[in-house]
Amino acid sequence: MQPKENVFYRNLRKNYPVVDKAKGIYVWDNKGKKYIDGSGGAVVVSIGHSVPEIREAMIKQAEKASFIHSSHFTSDAVLECAELLCNLTPEKNLNKVYFLSGGSEAVESAIKLVRQYWREAGQPDKYKIISRWSSFHGNTTGALALGGHTSRRKHYLAIMQYTPHIEPPYCFRCAFNETPDNCSLQCADNLERAILHEGPDSVAAFIAEPVIGATAGAIIPIDGYWQRIRQICDKYDIKLIADEVMTGIGRCGKNFCMDHWNTVPDIIVLAKGLSSGYTPLGAVIAKEEIHQTIKRGSGLFVHGHTFGQNPLSAAVGAAVLKYINKKNLIERSRKMGTIFNKKLKDELSDIDIVGDVRGLGLFSGIEFVCDKNSNECFENDLKINSQVAKQAFSRGLISYPGGGGVDGMSGDHILLAPPLIITEKQIDELVSILKRSILAVQGSID
Ligand SMILES: Cc1ncc(COP(=O)(O)O)c(C=O)c1O
Repeated sequence: MQPKENVFYRNLRKNYPVVDKAKGIYVWDNKGKKYIDGSGGAVVVSIGHSVPEIREAMIKQAEKASFIHSSHFTSDAVLECAELLCNLTPEKNLNKVYFLSGGSEAVESAIKLVRQYWREAGQPDKYKIISRWSSFHGNTTGALALGGHTSRRKHYLAIMQYTPHIEPPYCFRCAFNETPDNCSLQCADNLERAILHEGPDSVAAFIAEPVIGATAGAIIPIDGYWQRIRQICDKYDIKLIADEVMTGIGRCGKNFCMDHWNTVPDIIVLAKGLSSGYTPLGAVIAKEEIHQTIKRGSGLFVHGHTFGQNPLSAAVGAAVLKYINKKNLIERSRKMGTIFNKKLKDELSDIDIVGDVRGLGLFSGIEFVCDKNSNECFENDLKINSQVAKQAFSRGLISYPGGGGVDGMSGDHILLAPPLIITEKQIDELVSILKRSILAVQGSID
């Protein structure tokens, strides 16, 4: 039987190579072709593939108990992973962890948590979650409604809740026609306007990615943005949810990406790099006050998933966090990120179809334009992002293409997020393949 026959793939027309093995920053298919995992899959692989310590932790936990239901037991693995996570948070009171099996589940859990919190805090009318255009929070319908990716949302609008959206802090294409030099943070003040329009008493939370990933290719807000957002949330008594599914646990060179701006959210959402992909794992870290309010109130978070608090995944999470700590990988992400982003800029910025090269830590985006003077983007039909990714893949480089940053539909970028263990020599190899791939695409459209 052909391996493809019984599997419902995401892209029904694509022929996927079959993976054979993966080690460090490399992946091999079953024909022996070697790839650099330049995006850690979908910004997942933080510590590198096939680390023996993680395999050992998995075996050890599997020999004890792979599954228990969270309504019956807790486990040492869950307790340990939660403690290790809370050691990383910027404030002691960000200290209650709810485990799930992925990013979308974690986002759904965070918004339900905040909704239940306000009901139990005596403000039952606070239910709206404000979010941003050109952002992504997952593909379940609640999370998709929060995202601002029009082409992903449009099929499902009829079955999604209305949620208010504001403009993103997209300096390369500022919605307010400002430049970083004369920026008055209108994109942040936009939140205040939205709150006033909606009615502050009806707004429960604001959710956003500290650096926007999948939809727009590593959009880094200007300094002061997050501080202003925090002030606005405080002014109107609105919870701030940082969706750190892509950016958290060292990806951007700090424990959490929000640490770059000394901004403390009320809730942090995590997944991807938390388990480095060894098993599915997501988490919501909530402030003590949120936990206490529900504990004093009904005493029950009316929510749950069968694979929440899974001991095997928690053991992996704990082992990954210990490995990151032992190998100093967050510091390394900061250091190698500086080298990586400089190299990307030096090598790629002059290419005609490259409009912007940006990055923080080992989280980088390259945005493509058809006109460097006006920054006009390519027509969607050309699928420049996929073309670049395809060229790179054929040369042995895995990248993560995306689009829709400009208006939810158009705009092309690729994301790069190599494992945090990448060396300088491997960075040279990666950027060299990428450059050749972009030039090949440029050559094909000239
Ligand atoms: C910021 C962000 N939040 C949530 C998600 C959803 O995570 P998952 O695909 O694990 O459901 C993603 C996935 O890319 C993401 O980038």
